[in-house]
Amino acid sequence: MTTAPIPGPGKLTYGSYLKVAELLELQQRKSDPVHHDEMLFIIAHQVYELWFKQALHEIEAVIGHLERDEALKAGRVFDRLHRISHLLIEQIPVLETMSTIDFAAFRDHLRPASGFQSVQFRLLEFLCGAKNPRMMGLAGDDEAVRRRLEEFAARPTVYDHLLRHLDRKGFTMPREVLERDTSKLHEPDERVAKAMVRVYMESDEHYPQFRLCEQFLEFDERFSIWRFHHVKMVERMIGGKTGTGGSSGAKYLAGTLSIRFFPEIWMVRDYIGTGYGGEHP
Ligand code: HEM
Repeated sequence: MTTAPIPGPGKLTYGSYLKVAELLELQQRKSDPVHHDEMLFIIAHQVYELWFKQALHEIEAVIGHLERDEALKAGRVFDRLHRISHLLIEQIPVLETMSTIDFAAFRDHLRPASGFQSVQFRLLEFLCGAKNPRMMGLAGDDEAVRRRLEEFAARPTVYDHLLRHLDRKGFTMPREVLERDTSKLHEPDERVAKAMVRVYMESDEHYPQFRLCEQFLEFDERFSIWRFHHVKMVERMIGGKTGTGGSSGAKYLAGTLSIRFFPEIWMVRDYIGTGYGGEHP
């Protein structure tokens, strides 16, 4: 039988490498008397923030690959992003094991904090294209957060990088789109959609680009599924009540379900089979 090695003094250990002691100090409950379910509530949110950090890290990798026209490598990163998105969706039912009565018992202690204020969630939205200038207010007087939000609001989105890559690969995109002011919201453009129809119609010859468009679409779809599941959880927990962040709650969230990060990849579906660009050989 082998025995586990005893860590020597000053040697790196599991705990010191991962900062486990510090991590386990971070679950500070506010309810008084302490409510059992507040631990779940805090841990669930903290885990989300860690995965948001990883997702941002991966999207930066996608951008790097697109800049170097490495479509297959960008696609591989998306494989990971999809699995992370899957986890984000699948975590919601864990929170739903908390009943509306249990949540009501400690909800007032959270005010006015809300997931609405998640900076990393907004960075993800900005990087994917949902740039809402009103979200700048989330920085409050935190200068570092303000700078980060401003940087992400101004820079090209991962979708801008996809369109530039497709253009370099011969799927000519309109100049105005390629050279647009990236601090503004990208407006859906029929010409972009039509250039993308070719990617689909010529998927055999341009398989990496076709796969990439499908990967983008899948990410967008999964993000919407998270939004939908989150609204349903909110309805289950607090019904039609306003949010702790001050919004109308489920009603506000339902309005976000129509957000599409990559609109023309969805528009391609409007054209396929209509004779535009020819039928598949
Ligand atoms: C009991 C569970 C939860 C409830 C009742 C809840 C409730 C709400 C409500 C009512 C809003 C609207 C903003 C407001 O006025 O507060 C909101 C927004 C939000 N929540 Fe939650 N939430 C829950 C769990 C979570 C979790 C686990 C996350 C993960 C990070 C999360 C992330 C967000 C985000 C990112 C928004 C902003 C969405 C947007 O503006 O599109 N929420 N939540």
